[in-house]
Amino acid sequence: MSTSPRVVGVCGSLRDGSHTRTAIERALAEAGSFGGSTQLVDLRAYELPVFDPDNREAGDANRLKETLRESDSIILGSPMYHGSYAAPLKNAMDYCGFDEFEETTVGLLGVSGGRFPTTTLEHLRSVCRAVNAWVLPHQAAIPAASDKVDDGEIVDEEIEKRVAILGQRVVEYANIQPDPPTFQSEENVGADD
Ligand SMILES: Cc1cc2nc3c(=O)[nH]c(=O)nc-3n(C[C@H](O)[C@H](O)[C@H](O)COP(=O)(O)O)c2cc1C
Repeated sequence: MSTSPRVVGVCGSLRDGSHTRTAIERALAEAGSFGGSTQLVDLRAYELPVFDPDNREAGDANRLKETLRESDSIILGSPMYHGSYAAPLKNAMDYCGFDEFEETTVGLLGVSGGRFPTTTLEHLRSVCRAVNAWVLPHQAAIPAASDKVDDGEIVDEEIEKRVAILGQRVVEYANIQPDPPTFQSEENVGADD
């Protein structure tokens, strides 16, 4: 078991002054205070052309994949775009797969300009399930983000707490046990009759 879990936060917004990036940084700071070693993956610093399955190692894809593969926990943060999550994060995730996410703890963060970013979080959760990640039940959401984040800080106390707890949880559950071996269900013995 790693003594200092490696926690990586991936920001789905490329915007300068992104509220999502601010929140991920807050969660990573909390992860650090709970003993994690942390790294922000700022997708602005990665050259990632629109994913083409015929060119899976384009640009900085290998650098991204290596960083994610070496992590114990990943925080995926995205703005809500048209009721879902943002294309830069989807594109980054399409370069990745089981090797990067299987048996990796994932914490989710959604940020929106208006209503609660429920579908952003749900869509991210589905994608994580498809690559066998361990997605934490606790998730953080920042609706009406321009009222809640100001000058690089979360100014809403409740939301700040939820984001901080996300950082705490990704450290606490960084080394969660993988699935136990499957067993024959006693209750299912009649299924072959
Ligand atoms: C293309 C686009 C689509 C958006 N769609 C929604 C939406 O469906 N619902 C919503 O509440 N906000 C929507 N927003 C607002 C963003 O979620 C909001 O500005 C958020 O703070 C952006 O995240 P960032 O600050 O990390 O860049 C949209 C913004 C853009 C640019």
